[in-house]
Amino acid sequence: MIRVGVAGASGYAGGELVRLLLGHREAAVVVLASRGSAGKTAFEVYPGLRGYDLPRISDVQADDLARKCDVVFIAAPAGASMSLVREILAASPSTKVIDLGPDFRLKSPALYQEWYGMAHEAPNLIAEAAYGLPELCRDEIRHTRIVANPGCYPTAALLALAPLAARGLVDLRSVVIDAKSGVSGAGRTPSPGYHFPECEENLRPYGVLRHRHTPEIEQELQRVVRRSGDGGAGGPGSGGGADVAVSFTPHLVPMSRGILVTAYASLKALPQACGDGAEGNSAHEAGAEGTRPIRAALRGANGAETERPGPNPNMSANAIPDTRALTALYEEFYAGERFVRVLRNDLPQTKAVRGSNFCDIAVRADTRTGRVVVISALDNLVKGAAGQAIQNMNILFGLEESIGLETPPVWP
Ligand SMILES: NC(=O)c1ccc[n+]([C@@H]2O[C@H](COP(=O)([O-])OP(=O)(O)OC[C@H]3O[C@@H](n4cnc5c(N)ncnc54)[C@H](OP(=O)(O)O)[C@@H]3O)[C@@H](O)[C@H]2O)c1
Repeated sequence: MIRVGVAGASGYAGGELVRLLLGHREAAVVVLASRGSAGKTAFEVYPGLRGYDLPRISDVQADDLARKCDVVFIAAPAGASMSLVREILAASPSTKVIDLGPDFRLKSPALYQEWYGMAHEAPNLIAEAAYGLPELCRDEIRHTRIVANPGCYPTAALLALAPLAARGLVDLRSVVIDAKSGVSGAGRTPSPGYHFPECEENLRPYGVLRHRHTPEIEQELQRVVRRSGDGGAGGPGSGGGADVAVSFTPHLVPMSRGILVTAYASLKALPQACGDGAEGNSAHEAGAEGTRPIRAALRGANGAETERPGPNPNMSANAIPDTRALTALYEEFYAGERFVRVLRNDLPQTKAVRGSNFCDIAVRADTRTGRVVVISALDNLVKGAAGQAIQNMNILFGLEESIGLETPPVWP
């Protein structure tokens, strides 16, 4: 059994970790830690956990966590985990740490300081941390001892946009991400804007132009582009580098769980070899049969037969991939991924993923405007936090990724 510790056990993400770990056949929770709830039983903090065999909550002590645990999940606010991670690894270098907070997500300490308003206390550990989005970074996760579990919005946004970024299909300076979250995304600590009378029957934006998940989304989209071998938004040879700028606006929605992202970007015209080439079809007109050359061209930098999309000023406006081609691309990109469901005819909705580790995605090409619309939905506390963290633990320990995460969504 993997011996698991949870620091920040009294919060929403910590509680969700405990709930899911109780259903994990290869893991046992041996330490629950929180500063304010030390001494309490788990069910005093989470009434739903009454009757389960769980340790009493203890104070947050790095030595104790390091000594007793094979892996420690830290579900604490920004700034709280960097020194704790350093202390745990100093006490036990072989212990693995999965940080659900943001302290190890940004690769640049300067960027961290800029967006989080504090200096990083363990900058030498940042480079070893793997960004924990399994569908995009699985190999790095396998070989690390620090996993930076992604933010809830970045998970939804990156899974929605990665196939387009990897295949160079959109102008990555044109990306607009409109996102909505349930109130549990703000955590358990009360504050006026999150009180029931103020949230209920209300819909409001927040963090406009300055939400901390913005640089995380940009950083990881850039890495997707770099890994795919595309030269950047301008395509190979454009000299643009991995040029990404997203406009991200989150909104608070009066529901307890769930994130829905609607992302927009300008589609780039396909090269002639792809749409108008030997087979004589424009991508737009090609339909299902036309997805074959499109998909060959979209396959990416590693395939010998590929010709990557790049700018082509001579292309007509309708030489962009259509919805069927894009859906086929998404299905291919996420083939074999247990937790990403590409929807063809339906649209994602938060209730269809509630309580589960799924992220549902649908893509639509707007051939009238030349833009793509991608919609994704996930449960912020599961695929957006605790479920994804357990998926990462499974990868770290060489287990089947879905162990402990097969709970179907709760409906209605
Ligand atoms: N909620 C979500 O949907 C979600 C999704 C993805 C990621 N996350 C991230 O996960 C982390 C936890 O979020 P949450 O929603 O669970 O927050 P939360 O409900 O407010 O819980 C925070 C937890 O951290 C502990 N804590 C607070 N300050 C601490 C410190 N300085 N050192 C150690 N522990 C401290 C708190 O307990 P004590 O004060 O008693 O120690 C509590 O257990 C955050 O970084 C958040 O950004 C949350």
